[in-house]
Amino acid sequence: MRPAPMAAVLPQRAGTIGPATEASNPSMARIPDAFIDDLLARTDIVEVIGTRVPLKRQGKEYSARCPFHDERSPSFTVSQTKQFYHCFGCGAHGTAISFLMNYDRLEFLDAVDELAKRVGMEVPKETQKRNETDDGRDMYAALDAAAKFFQRQLEGNEKAKAYLDRRGVDESIRTQFSIGYAPDGFSALKDALGTDERRIKLLDKTGMLSRSDNGRVYDKFRDRVMFPIHDRRGRVIAFGGRVLAKDDGPKYLNSPETPLFHKGRELYGLWQVRQANQKIERLVVVEGYMDVVSLFQYGVTQAVATLGTATTPDHAELLFRNSPDVYFCFDGDAAGQRAAWKALESVLPRMKDGRQAFFLFLPDGEDPDSIVRSEGAAGFDTRLQQATPLSQFFYDELGKDVKLSTLDGKARLAERAKPLLAQIPDGAFGDLMRQRLGEITGVGVQQPVALPEKPKTVSRLPAQTQKRSLVRGAITVLLQQPSLALSLEPPYGFKDLNQPGVGLLIELLSLVHARPEITTGALLQHFSERDDLNALQKLASEAVPGDATIWRQILIDAAEQLEDQAIQQRLAELHAKMGAGPLDVADKYELMALMQAQRRRGKLPS
Ligand code: UTP
Ligand code: MN
Repeated sequence: MRPAPMAAVLPQRAGTIGPATEASNPSMARIPDAFIDDLLARTDIVEVIGTRVPLKRQGKEYSARCPFHDERSPSFTVSQTKQFYHCFGCGAHGTAISFLMNYDRLEFLDAVDELAKRVGMEVPKETQKRNETDDGRDMYAALDAAAKFFQRQLEGNEKAKAYLDRRGVDESIRTQFSIGYAPDGFSALKDALGTDERRIKLLDKTGMLSRSDNGRVYDKFRDRVMFPIHDRRGRVIAFGGRVLAKDDGPKYLNSPETPLFHKGRELYGLWQVRQANQKIERLVVVEGYMDVVSLFQYGVTQAVATLGTATTPDHAELLFRNSPDVYFCFDGDAAGQRAAWKALESVLPRMKDGRQAFFLFLPDGEDPDSIVRSEGAAGFDTRLQQATPLSQFFYDELGKDVKLSTLDGKARLAERAKPLLAQIPDGAFGDLMRQRLGEITGVGVQQPVALPEKPKTVSRLPAQTQKRSLVRGAITVLLQQPSLALSLEPPYGFKDLNQPGVGLLIELLSLVHARPEITTGALLQHFSERDDLNALQKLASEAVPGDATIWRQILIDAAEQLEDQAIQQRLAELHAKMGAGPLDVADKYELMALMQAQRRRGKLPS
């Protein structure tokens, strides 16, 4: 009997990767495993990676210098047959989907969408994100049209061009950031794009219109220089508009929150940064649109701006997903200090090992725009290099109004620090921060008890080791060439064998029986949210000597020996039962059948 497709019983996988904000959207159904399987079957990982990283053919595999860590000699390999990549240097690994997530820094669903587009597959409707539905597409189109409209308007408006000239924004940067101009009057955009009811509705939904008390609808942005805000895939999702003259209402007007735009989750300029940098070594967080644009123009192409809000935890996560080093740039005044502290609070829980945050305070009255214009990129860089590390800013701020020379002061500092330190993820950074507190105050903070070294699960008993390596060996060859699973037919005689890995082996066999063509990569994708993934990935990356014929024999032999062990396990159970009292009829029959099977298999004298 064929097992039911495992896809139906595997735990939820798709859509739960990525920021909780997206994953927790209950209206979003998950993508069926079958769709992911098909998608990976039609995708060639070598092509996907090859367009982004120069690959060199080496025998059956392709190799390159790893795009995920610095290295001289190539230890990054892409396997066409297995359809996955693996770096022997840093351990990065995965399928075409995970490659896009890590390299293009896409969310799971966006990576799936991207691959689906490549091979002409349609992501199941009910699993598309809200913004991938027809309505969403129309909203993107409306915003894109608006951005183009504003750009055309800028071309024809001397006053706006003169403003940008005066501020020193050159032509190429205007293009790169798609800067435009929203004309004066109340209906330039509405007249140009809102040609019917449906279109007016779309403009309204995307935040481009305002409504007066008496219900009249008019352009929200008027007589302003327009800065389109792009999402992670380069689509326009909102705008910021700056007045040309002082005293003309608020200096900057931002799009309201819309289905496509949540300002606490977006960073102005991130799209351009990603376009300009293959690898983002650092990100500089500034306050204003003009800061990002000017820094870019002067060659600092790693600046992003929060959109008139404090740095949120979502921002912090987004920043660190894009770069290990993040520099927060603030005014030197009291407001700047407060904003910096808020940023610090948002990043603390994200300070995993390898991540660093710095704080840069600018002289009064200056901003990155003015600094880079007067000091150039080199001057700005020098300031970055002198930025305050998070640890120092943290203790400087906490210690501001306490007398550290007194016991009282030290105690107070320790009290203030504790709840904050508790938010830092386990790791070297947290250890160092606690150590620092000890140095400053002499007050020890209890370190989280280091977990005792995991007891070696591999028992020294040779029999155990051998059993373990049987299952392991079977899984390893199976991962070299999944179709080998077809040489074993369910029901598997070892399914009740009480041994680590047996369940996993059976799961793998069943997955292949359900989809005989499945590649190693696609098979592993089924485990993308399971603890087993890393172990499986390691086994899959092993270079197993021999060929498919030999591997098949290894698998068949292993299955046979495991079945023996299962029979012996059951015999031992029945014998134990016999010792405790008479066996019932069913047990007796089973015992006889087992002994017969043993005899047949030549394990017992006949
Ligand atoms: P600033 O007032 O520091 O302006 O606001 P700026 O960035 O230096 O702008 P320029 O150089 O005068 O053109 C910093 C950021 O705060 C938000 C905007 O995102 C702005 O870029 N802001 C400011 C608003 O949202 N609304 C405002 O009225 C002012
Ligand atoms: Mn400014």
